[in-house]
Amino acid sequence: ATDVLTTPVLQMDWAELQQTVAGCRACGLCAGRQQTVFGVGDQRAPWLFVGEGPGYNENIQGQPFVGAAGQLLDNMLKALGVQRGQRAYIANVVKCRPTDDAGKDRPPSAEEIAACLPYLRRQIALIQPQVIVALGKTAAVALLGLDMNTPVAQLRAKQHAFEGVPLIATYHPAYLLRKPLDKSKAWQDLCMAMQVMQQS
Ligand code: URA
Repeated sequence: ATDVLTTPVLQMDWAELQQTVAGCRACGLCAGRQQTVFGVGDQRAPWLFVGEGPGYNENIQGQPFVGAAGQLLDNMLKALGVQRGQRAYIANVVKCRPTDDAGKDRPPSAEEIAACLPYLRRQIALIQPQVIVALGKTAAVALLGLDMNTPVAQLRAKQHAFEGVPLIATYHPAYLLRKPLDKSKAWQDLCMAMQVMQQS
């Protein structure tokens, strides 16, 4: 156990990382969580999908994207010929559910993102995906180190990179549930991600 406590996050293996996240107290979100949501899928997946953070259902079930937005994400995966456990890994920028004073889901703060990002960085280094799909603004700006207010519309439809791994930003599935007309743009982005993967 001493090894686990002294290994730097960026050198941890999968099991150490999972254990560390499960006991993390690096930011205030730990106080309100039911459990951490580490991520799910194929640990050597070519596709990595990154969302924002757990919401109400994810906090209860311990799995990412299990609510309505998750169903849409599953359909997006299916259209790409992948599944949660097969050729795809799904993770979030923060591993604990952020809530506002009324107990509603809210986006994570810059401090919460900074506290949690090393875990995602290590997940990416261990998975070595061929492409990262950033679902929504939080994931895109966190991984690209951009201003929190950069709109997804400015980031989508082009190829970026996170530490040498191609990254495509697109709309968050929860946004697409509210704005279904933008689904065609999200599909264009996923097709771009597929092309990127075929070229690699
Ligand atoms: N929204 C996210 O960004 N992540 C989840 O896991 C669920 C909803």
